[in-house]
Amino acid sequence: MSTLAEAGRRVAVGSDHAGLELKDHLVAYLRDHGFEVEDVGPASTASVDYPDFAQQVGVKVAATAADWGLLVCGTGVGMAIAANKVPGIRAANCFEPHTSALARAHNNANVLTLAGRMLAPSYAEQVLRAFLDTPFEGGRHQRRVDKIHHPETTAAD
Ligand code: RB5
Repeated sequence: MSTLAEAGRRVAVGSDHAGLELKDHLVAYLRDHGFEVEDVGPASTASVDYPDFAQQVGVKVAATAADWGLLVCGTGVGMAIAANKVPGIRAANCFEPHTSALARAHNNANVLTLAGRMLAPSYAEQVLRAFLDTPFEGGRHQRRVDKIHHPETTAAD
């Protein structure tokens, strides 16, 4: 088992207009801490649609062009719903560090979504840090994570 920082340092990041400010803060935080960040945007607060950015980040993670994904919208909810439609993605919307640690330890989450309108930047750093620092536990959790993806590989009747 390894932490995210040991397992891979490439993070794909995106937001919508509501998440832009926190996204930019966390891009700087990640770069300051040695991560390689690909910021898919947006670059301004003009109104955009969160699924466009969730899908870009999700595809990069699923294709292993990025090791991890970070998405920020107003609540984090829309980003999680949209990212989880990309096969291979396990996106978790987390509001505090214990949950983001468990999203890694038990769910092997590969994308973290955050609420730009509800989290203070310094607290969001803690939520992100817990995600980055926590390895997947494997074992019984691997079987359950495998089952999450069964609908992606099983043809509909
Ligand atoms: C945008 O107003 C808002 O709906 C979006 O940022 C997000 O919170 C959706 O889940």
